[in-house]
Amino acid sequence: MPSEQDAHPVGAAVEPGLVAPGDGPLGRGPVVDLLVGALAHQRAAAVAATLLALPDDRLTADARGVARTVDTACRRVAAVATAAEAEVLAVLGVSGIDARPTTSGPIAAHQIPMVDLELPGTQLPRAVDASRALGYHTWVRRSPGALRAHLHSAPAVGLVRDGGPDGVDAPATRLTLRRRAPRATGPVGRRLRPTEADLGFVDLPGPAWPLYHVVRPVRRVAHGLRPPRDEPFAPFLGTPPALVAPLLDLAGVGPDDVLVDLGCGDGRIALEAARLTGCRAVGVERDAALVDTARRRVHEAGLVGRVRIEHGDVRSWDLSGATHVFAFLPGAALRVVLPGALRALPAGGVVLAHEQAALDPPVPPQRVELVVAGASITCASSWTVGARTRGDGTGTAPRRRP
Ligand SMILES: C[S@@+](CC[C@H](N)C(=O)[O-])C[C@H]1O[C@@H](n2cnc3c(N)ncnc32)[C@H](O)[C@@H]1O
Repeated sequence: MPSEQDAHPVGAAVEPGLVAPGDGPLGRGPVVDLLVGALAHQRAAAVAATLLALPDDRLTADARGVARTVDTACRRVAAVATAAEAEVLAVLGVSGIDARPTTSGPIAAHQIPMVDLELPGTQLPRAVDASRALGYHTWVRRSPGALRAHLHSAPAVGLVRDGGPDGVDAPATRLTLRRRAPRATGPVGRRLRPTEADLGFVDLPGPAWPLYHVVRPVRRVAHGLRPPRDEPFAPFLGTPPALVAPLLDLAGVGPDDVLVDLGCGDGRIALEAARLTGCRAVGVERDAALVDTARRRVHEAGLVGRVRIEHGDVRSWDLSGATHVFAFLPGAALRVVLPGALRALPAGGVVLAHEQAALDPPVPPQRVELVVAGASITCASSWTVGARTRGDGTGTAPRRRP
């Protein structure tokens, strides 16, 4: 695995003009704000490098410390991505698949490990199969028929692997496999190319995949008669394990609290909350397979009395009794659930959301924090019911567990 130093060019592209010339040194608050904004736009590595390149008298010591923490995390991310790229290329090569990185030179600057490869379109199905051996699965879960239909016409397929070559503390790695020469499709082909909604409409077995090309009219009629109620909201991506404890700490969860994780995935937040703080926890999840996984994990951890996993829709979930709500959901989903959560929680209750992209919530958070641990980095926003909303996005230092 390459060293962090090898991976440094990833984040080294400084951004001239980022910091306006001024009299005094930049303090921790403005620097955190800059980095929070950068994280939302996948520029954390470049902004941290820019800050560290400033002369000594332009940054206070603690502001420099924050920039260094983010820079180090981004270098680790780059090292994970570089190792993952080499690993995937080796496995695809053994299978005779002619894959190449889409960018020349170092892996593009990212705060999440991402590998982006291009290959002949005819080899996409085999490449997806081969990458399963390394633990990658498609970002969107699909039936075998839907996957075949998608691979037949989509320009690219997204995969993800939870954890990484470094073990449990590594962040999830995303892998994009792109068709080298996208298919030239005429107007008829474009109309028949199955959309996400077509692929999610019905589960067809693998050999029936060509039928997805005629699903649309049937779906349109069916949806006209009865509109769908349960469109996907967010795919599963677990909170990086290294971030779970600092995020729970930030939310201020204690032994008398009841935490609800909206969209609990494999249950890691509910489980760790109960284990680390002694609170009671409820995980709500729409995906039945994930519900089974989470329940099995609760059982194995001996936490059946403290942690409940419910199969349900977070949009209509009754939050009475909860004191804390955790949400790792994309901005569009958070916009739907946040107002209801803030109405349901008692005074002093806390909603904590985190994302590695812009959230743009309908109610401004009182606190926005950078949370960094190992090769994982995220931005946590929190709302405390009854507290005054500052709404200026000013970041403060993340509290760290001892
Ligand atoms: C980004 S994952 C977060 C998982 C977990 N909270 C964590 O932090 O590790 C979002 C989860 O929300 C679930 N989800 C999406 N839409 C949902 C809905 N309408 N109701 C319940 N769960 C939903 C997805 O299946 C997925 O497991």
